Amino acid sequence: MLVIGIAGGTGSGKTTVVDKIIQQLDIEGMNILSQDNYYHDNHNLTLVEREALNYDHPKSIDFDLLIKHVKALKNNEPIEQPIYSFVTHSRTGDHVTVEPKNVLVVEGILVLTNKELLKEFDLKVFVHADSDERLIRRIRRDTQERGRDLNEVLHRYQTTLKPMHQEFIEPSKNEADLIIPNMRQNSVAIDFLTTVIKNSLRKH
Ligand code: C5P
Repeated sequence: MLVIGIAGGTGSGKTTVVDKIIQQLDIEGMNILSQDNYYHDNHNLTLVEREALNYDHPKSIDFDLLIKHVKALKNNEPIEQPIYSFVTHSRTGDHVTVEPKNVLVVEGILVLTNKELLKEFDLKVFVHADSDERLIRRIRRDTQERGRDLNEVLHRYQTTLKPMHQEFIEPSKNEADLIIPNMRQNSVAIDFLTTVIKNSLRKH
């Protein structure tokens, strides 16, 4: 199994890059594990308390479970992936069964910050977009899809997202084998990445 870690700040367009890889690779067996489904379950807290948490710090992620799941899939064992709700800021209690496949993509803002998880990756990718582009995308997504208001998004950006990005996410770019620009056209970089993946698959 080929395991690829794809990181990048919030709004950098990781999902778009993953979608383009899927289109271009044209292979059947590929799983995507999103770090978002591995936020700690904070059921014991009230909604107001959960809303106030920092979701951009590495400690907000249940890396133990994520690493356990990556190892299980590499071992050819299925996993029960938790499902997370951005509305209630907690796990829904539902799970989805993920069967092992040839390629595993692990994506999320913090996936290149954890030393243990880094050891599991065959290929490490960082998606780069300038911070103004990322903020614009984040405002659009949070107001249109996640029911947040503009002031809340801007407050969170200034007090949490920006400092966490500078402290943890941007430095994790150093771990990447490949940095994909994602502001305008990036078809050359995507071609590059898919070629690397195809070559690695041949070797595996
Ligand atoms: O999709 P993306 O990689 O941007 O998702 C990560 C973002 O989700 C983080 O920047 C974090 O602030 C946000 N998040 C949130 N509410 C939660 C959990 C994460 O807004 N309950």
